[in-house]
Amino acid sequence: MAEKTVVNVKNLKKYFPVRAGLMSSFAKEEKKFVHAVDDVSFNIRPGEIYTLVGESGCGKTTTGRLLTRLEDPTDGHIYFRGKDIAFLKGKNLKEFRRNVQMIFQDPYESLNPRLTVFATVSEPLIVHHVGDTIDEREDLAAKALEASELKPATEYLHRYPHELSGGQRQRVAIARALALRPEFIVADEPVSMLDVSIRAGILNLLLELREKYGIPYLFITHDLSVARYMSDRIGVMYLGTLVETGETEKIIKNPHHPYTRALLSSVPVPDPYYKRERKKIKGDLPSPIDIPKGCRFYPRCPFAQKGICDTKKPPIVEVEPGHMVMCHFAKDIPAMDEAMESEIEEDVELGEKLLRETMKSGEEGMLVKEEKVEDLEQYERETAF
Ligand SMILES: Nc1ncnc2c1ncn2[C@@H]1O[C@H](COP(=O)(O)OP(=O)(O)OP(=O)(O)O)[C@@H](O)[C@H]1O
Ligand code: SF4
Ligand SMILES: [Mg+2]
Repeated sequence: MAEKTVVNVKNLKKYFPVRAGLMSSFAKEEKKFVHAVDDVSFNIRPGEIYTLVGESGCGKTTTGRLLTRLEDPTDGHIYFRGKDIAFLKGKNLKEFRRNVQMIFQDPYESLNPRLTVFATVSEPLIVHHVGDTIDEREDLAAKALEASELKPATEYLHRYPHELSGGQRQRVAIARALALRPEFIVADEPVSMLDVSIRAGILNLLLELREKYGIPYLFITHDLSVARYMSDRIGVMYLGTLVETGETEKIIKNPHHPYTRALLSSVPVPDPYYKRERKKIKGDLPSPIDIPKGCRFYPRCPFAQKGICDTKKPPIVEVEPGHMVMCHFAKDIPAMDEAMESEIEEDVELGEKLLRETMKSGEEGMLVKEEKVEDLEQYERETAF
């Protein structure tokens, strides 16, 4: 029997045309494209949190925008509850949009400063003709705010964004996403712009909402400790493609793709007093306009083999049930890289332990002890990807 999925993405592509300068258009140069999402396939199950991780510019946000159809795909399929919504238009697209919502990275930008909280949260209700009277809409908006832990809602309904803290703004954005009781949410780095002291509260709220309403999420983060805390499964993106996918614990504890391994060992451990030297991933991310032939990771991969990796597209190999790796040597890499194994595990365990301690420390808990937060912010700035 086919596996039950809410979202099923198949061979999805998004190429952005590169604007040609005047000279090159006279010279009739070949049109160029940014291969932001380049043949990506994955699915999201009912009530599941599926997380995309990867370096800046690898195509995470574009994938999220395609799934909510804020962006039109170049090619491929996005099945939502069995129906392909990739190229919907007009009335059908509007109907689909009612069921999906996106929470953005920056609550300072995503809320209109001229709208009150009530106007913000009730806007999607008006667009989709939900609630006949202003009282009905106020009631629905209040319920969404209270579900987002802004209680009592009456205290917030008539405030403007500048009268709210960053965390409260992100809760308003979550309430707005919840107002229409969506069947699927894309949360794009929902805590990365927030002070470390309030991240835990927002992450816990998203987890509670998943528990309460069974809403599946596509979650996007560059922080692997957050990914581990939040996700059921992880997809590792590199230069527009998924190079490794599988259950969170399998990816973190038993990474096979050289890029995942490099990503894990380059992660800053969220403790300023813990100073293992981070390994930088060799070289720079190649241009998404001129994608390397063969394996995209070839120019940076310590295990690359000439004549194979630089010429042939790697296959997708199932290294253990449900754990897929796109590499010519998928099954051999861990043995070739034993030294890194224990280091990765130690770092990730420590990172996650610290994160869990924060989560336990309550609503507005600190990531480490309160007096260390300043150091941590500086540490994060220094060590971000
Ligand atoms: N509207 C656009 N027009 C042209 N290129 C774009 C557009 N949007 C994104 N891109 C390019 O597509 C690639 C993927 O961008 P995307 O924002 O999806 O990456 P990301 O993984 O979310 O990065 P980050 O972690 O920095 O948010 C980048 O090279 C980016 O410059
Ligand atoms: S296919 Fe080759 S270059 Fe690509 S990740 Fe595997 S070993 Fe490295
Ligand atoms: Mg992004």
